Amino acid sequence: MASSISEVIKTRRSIKKYSEEEISKEMLSSILEACQWAPSAHNAQPWRFIVVRDHLHKQNLAKNMAVRWEEDLSGDGIPKAERKRLIEDSVMQFSGSPIVIIACLTMKDMDQYPNEQRRNAEHIMGVQSVAAAIENLLLAAHDVGLGACWFCAPLFCPDAVRETLRIPKHMEPQALITLGYPSKQPNPPARRALTTIVYEEYWGTPT
Ligand SMILES: Cc1cc2nc3c(=O)[nH]c(=O)nc-3n(C[C@H](O)[C@H](O)[C@H](O)COP(=O)(O)O)c2cc1C
Repeated sequence: MASSISEVIKTRRSIKKYSEEEISKEMLSSILEACQWAPSAHNAQPWRFIVVRDHLHKQNLAKNMAVRWEEDLSGDGIPKAERKRLIEDSVMQFSGSPIVIIACLTMKDMDQYPNEQRRNAEHIMGVQSVAAAIENLLLAAHDVGLGACWFCAPLFCPDAVRETLRIPKHMEPQALITLGYPSKQPNPPARRALTTIVYEEYWGTPT
């Protein structure tokens, strides 16, 4: 189990294979509590989380999302056999993890603007706030020996997610997070060097 914050940050990995060990209610609560403490624009806390544990519900969700994905893959010209393989893998991935969490954004308590540019900025602030909460969740999970993976799939099929889980209209599905005890620890993927991502006092020529 990780200890210092920097160790937790550096050793967290996206975990995609889980053992069947169950996650206790207390452990799940402690992980979700980490989301409560994320920073958010205006402290509006515009995140909402839907926890799916029931196998049939996870399977329904995965299958309904897959139907939408199939249409996209078909539109992209992906051959039928390859589509079938991708879809089966994705259904297995989501329904096979002990817990699935759908992270949503609600704009209910965010500022309302008449003008589109400010409305868009406010929406981005909401999305950024949800992302901060998700990162807290991933780190808290890792800190207690669990693994998790952040999947963007709901962004491509929000209606399928909303309809399957009967999510209210004001909640926008942003991400699907799988959670469980890791059965396989992946190697850390390479990171860009600090010198290539940090610019000190950048005075480059505008292009
Ligand atoms: C916004 C976002 C969307 C992601 N979507 C997916 C996804 O759809 N499928 C997937 O396998 N991983 C997804 N990931 C996980 C990344 O692939 C992973 O974080 C990255 O490869 C670095 O690996 P690490 O998390 O183990 O450090 C996503 C991560 C983020 C932040």
